[in-house]
Amino acid sequence: MLTRIEQVLVNLYLNAIDAMPEGGKLNVGANVKPADGTSSTVVITVADTGFGIEKKDLPKIFQPFFTAKKKSGLGLGLPICDRIIKNHGGKIEVESQPRRGTIFKVYLSLEPSRTG
Ligand SMILES: Nc1ncnc2c1ncn2[C@@H]1O[C@H](COP(=O)(O)OP(=O)(O)OP(=O)(O)O)[C@@H](O)[C@H]1O
Ligand SMILES: [Mg+2]
Repeated sequence: MLTRIEQVLVNLYLNAIDAMPEGGKLNVGANVKPADGTSSTVVITVADTGFGIEKKDLPKIFQPFFTAKKKSGLGLGLPICDRIIKNHGGKIEVESQPRRGTIFKVYLSLEPSRTG
């Protein structure tokens, strides 16, 4: 059984793998910001060297049922990621360059949440 955050990461890894049918690099990182330890946000990055996302599609990728994978995709991976992260008081951002690659950044507060 995966935790919610593990589910988010697996979704991002699967998307990255799908974007690199001819191979490439998948880089995963985690940093605490700011680095001086005064505050506490963890930033997890998942970066691939895949085919990227067209600018016109970027606003749509977190919408349910938006998929470019005609046969295999439901278009639910990222909306579920977005919901899980928001439920944890965090946010997810994406930057992409068509034919170059994509990076997703997940921001999560390390402070105890007020809502539990
Ligand atoms: N790393 C990525 N590189 C290129 N395109 C991506 C990447 N991640 C997401 N996308 C685009 O965003 C769309 C939506 O992603 P999402 O994970 O929500 O759905 P899906 O992968 O198509 O289907 P599902 O996750 O439900 O199997 C994808 O179809 C793809 O077009
Ligand atoms: Mg997906």
